[in-house]
Amino acid sequence: MARERLDLYLPLVPFFLVLFFVVSDAKRTSTSVGVNWGTLATNQLPAERIVKMLKDNGFKKLKLFEADEKILAALIGTDIEVMLGIPNYFLKEFANKPEAAAAWVDSNVTGWFYDGGVKIKYVAVGNEPFLKEYNGIYLESTLPALRNVQRAINDASLAQKVKATVPFNADVYESPGVNALPSAGDFRSDVKDAAIEIIQYLSLHDSPFTVNIYPFLSLQGNDHFPIEFAFFDGESTPIKDGDRIYTNVFDANLDTLVAALDKNGFSDVTIIIGEVGWPTDGDKNANTQNARRFNQGLLKHAMSGNGTPARNGSINVYLFSLIDENAKDISPGTFERHWGIFEFDGKPKYELDLTGKNGNKGLAAVEGVRYLSKKWCVFNPDATDLEDLPDSISYACAHSDCTALGYGSSCNHLSSEGNASYAFNMYYQVNNQNDGNCDFTGLATVTGEDPSDKGCQFPVMISDGSPGILRRGALGVLLRIVGGCFVFLLLCLN
Ligand SMILES: *[C@@H]1O[C@H](CO)[C@@H](O)[C@H](O)[C@H]1NC(C)=O
Ligand SMILES: *[C@@H]1O[C@H](CO)[C@@H](O)[C@H](O)[C@H]1NC(C)=O
Ligand SMILES: *[C@@H]1O[C@H](CO)[C@@H](O)[C@H](O)[C@H]1NC(C)=O
Repeated sequence: MARERLDLYLPLVPFFLVLFFVVSDAKRTSTSVGVNWGTLATNQLPAERIVKMLKDNGFKKLKLFEADEKILAALIGTDIEVMLGIPNYFLKEFANKPEAAAAWVDSNVTGWFYDGGVKIKYVAVGNEPFLKEYNGIYLESTLPALRNVQRAINDASLAQKVKATVPFNADVYESPGVNALPSAGDFRSDVKDAAIEIIQYLSLHDSPFTVNIYPFLSLQGNDHFPIEFAFFDGESTPIKDGDRIYTNVFDANLDTLVAALDKNGFSDVTIIIGEVGWPTDGDKNANTQNARRFNQGLLKHAMSGNGTPARNGSINVYLFSLIDENAKDISPGTFERHWGIFEFDGKPKYELDLTGKNGNKGLAAVEGVRYLSKKWCVFNPDATDLEDLPDSISYACAHSDCTALGYGSSCNHLSSEGNASYAFNMYYQVNNQNDGNCDFTGLATVTGEDPSDKGCQFPVMISDGSPGILRRGALGVLLRIVGGCFVFLLLCLN
């Protein structure tokens, strides 16, 4: 998923069926799954506790969207291999100023890279910089930035140990035409030359090609998409591409990339799936059953060594994502805040066997989580003047997270009073249960009775959470939350 500060991040409109698929890693077989840890959340668990949970669960590979000092510090001395991201807003500067790229590498890679330090293995330069919705704004700067970052890594004598790559959205390749098949795959015409130059560079440095693939978005964006084709154990009619038979959209997508690479002379380039996953709320197809079915099927498939019809070997995947992010931009959809395999408080949402063996193996939760008091803020049944109610709900949602209320979501069945309670509670909780944040001119009141029902959780916020997001620029966050909520309000107030 794109994650820009100013959120150019429009809905990705996934193509019909086979057009637009994803990646794999044939050569260097890897037998462990990676995970993306994003931090666009209002209240965050201490990084050390999450790192401990990663170790408890046997995660060996981690992808970060930026060099977050607290997270890197918590990773010191672990054997977790890290892919460290450089946000898009650095690209132009790093393209034009090699010394800026060198300073970044110096403080964010070399500084942590020592015996017993952090095992940084990849630097991800930019995030989906050629996304169609960005209209080419990073087209010129991506390769020079990549070059300057890799040079700085080489100058630090880390050339053999740390490889720079660029995570692309799967929209950089496609199969032309309505009934396009994977074998017809090639790079999108407006980015083809730039993509090929980048792949040449990656290939020369023995670096992987990284791509993000989202079968969920294929389904979410197209009512005619055959749902079973999104899963790995589905019963949908297979697609025949010559001798190759496709039973799931992931393989079809990945082989579209394989075809594009083969066609342009890069059959040997290793592929990493930088992001792939399934959300659990915020859409009619987003729930724990589907998420478990998809992710477990994916892991089993990726680790089997069978590869895709066009490329043998294990598929190197990084799940999206580790933990829910309640301040993520929701312009693509309210599901954006629910990609985690763990809840905001580090509880696993469903069973997932990370070894890919499909056992009924639970995940270990984050330990020692501290919560605020068992108090909730709800609609005051004694309130008589309801004139301000719609505005109060909008305000509460705009400054918290009401994505569970929308159509197809876990709390969509609430009454209008229930909706008000949900909104007031979320606002109260993200504001650390400050008394002043549960009033709304007498419309709200604090209760000790949990208003949750089956399916709809009224959370109590974690108390040891550092307000991670504010640290990263309050304005950006405010824009993100408010911007996202305008979209939501259309739902809320319609
Ligand atoms: C290291 O990365 C962080 C997080 O992206 C960034 O804020 C900081 O400026 C970087 N350091 C340098 C010297 O570029
Ligand atoms: C994958 O391996 C099988 C068995 O070794 C072989 O028959 C097949 O041709 C290979 N496929 C590809 C695409 O390399
Ligand atoms: C509660 O809010 C949701 C989301 O805005 C809306 O779809 C639903 O119709 C509301 N319920 C009632 C009873 O107003």
